[in-house]
Amino acid sequence: MDSISKRLLAWYDRHARTLPWRTSPADGKRGVVPDPYHVWLSEVMLQQTTVTTVKPYFEKFVTMWPGVTDLARADTEDVMKAWAGLGYYSRARNLKACADIVASTMDGRFPKTQAELRTLPGIGDYTSAAIAAIAFGEVAAVVDGNVERVVIRHTANATPLPKAKDDCRRFMADVTPSDRPGDFVQAVMDLGATICTPRSPGCVICPLKEDCQARKAGSMLDFPVKAPKKVKSNRVGAAFVALNERGAVWLVKRPDIGLLGGMTAVPSTLWTAARNGATGAESAPFPGRWQSCGSIRHTFTHFHIELEVYKTSNTSPTGAGWWSPPDTLTGEALPTVMKKVITAALPDAFRRHSNDAH
Ligand code: ADE
Repeated sequence: MDSISKRLLAWYDRHARTLPWRTSPADGKRGVVPDPYHVWLSEVMLQQTTVTTVKPYFEKFVTMWPGVTDLARADTEDVMKAWAGLGYYSRARNLKACADIVASTMDGRFPKTQAELRTLPGIGDYTSAAIAAIAFGEVAAVVDGNVERVVIRHTANATPLPKAKDDCRRFMADVTPSDRPGDFVQAVMDLGATICTPRSPGCVICPLKEDCQARKAGSMLDFPVKAPKKVKSNRVGAAFVALNERGAVWLVKRPDIGLLGGMTAVPSTLWTAARNGATGAESAPFPGRWQSCGSIRHTFTHFHIELEVYKTSNTSPTGAGWWSPPDTLTGEALPTVMKKVITAALPDAFRRHSNDAH
């Protein structure tokens, strides 16, 4: 076995993080095998999202839907509600589509190889490799952001990301052991999350310190080199919180395709790039005595949005939508930007009735 993998596995045996989807190294040695459903669900949630954010969502999902067939039987709307706040909502739609296929055509069992996993909705290079390695012990090269940082520092690779990703994949393919490949990749992830951190790496306690090229040169913080980030554009718009006499909020469903596809929202104008767009009460979708509640900001992958928020009561909304009473609001499939909008109009909306950490 490569000495890197030996050292990392020994380190992981002592320092593995305890995570709700993870089989601990001690349990693994006693023959406990990971539940592929848990591994798949966690890896899809962890795409673009941190471990801290994912934990409560993972717990909620496995409580509501203990197995992949339960998730397949669930209402898509309920899945979107449970996902609300995690972002990148096409992941939730793909998650449900994947569960449907595994339940209906694979007898509820996930395929065991990276190549087969890769054919399922929402499972790309990273996720297929991670599931194959962690759940099924395939020697697959898994590369996420933490792994990239560890490998690029280890090899002092000066190629900027994302170009250096291929080098990372080759490196991982070389060093991933045939014994415990899943623990090995999780060890690299944990090392990146707890020791080889972006801004203050704890090199003195690192199990790989002897042959880390960046450390030898004292230039850990110079790696990874990143290609300059594209500047995000700014967009503006207005959002409208209409209330009825019982304090219910008027909600609409966004179109299935596009940004926040299929999620729940309050009515809003188009989100345009220029300030010459409509951001005043005159652009409300139906008449009311609209009062200004200030504005909120939110950042998406490609742009920042500033929304002017207005509220009114005693109004008769037109078009498709529904009144959501105060005690059901937390359960709606409201993305974070919409929770910010509603909170600007109703500061306690998600506090009073919330039993949800988000
Ligand atoms: N990030 C993504 N997948 C992970 C895992 N299995 N363990 C720790 N961090 C992760």
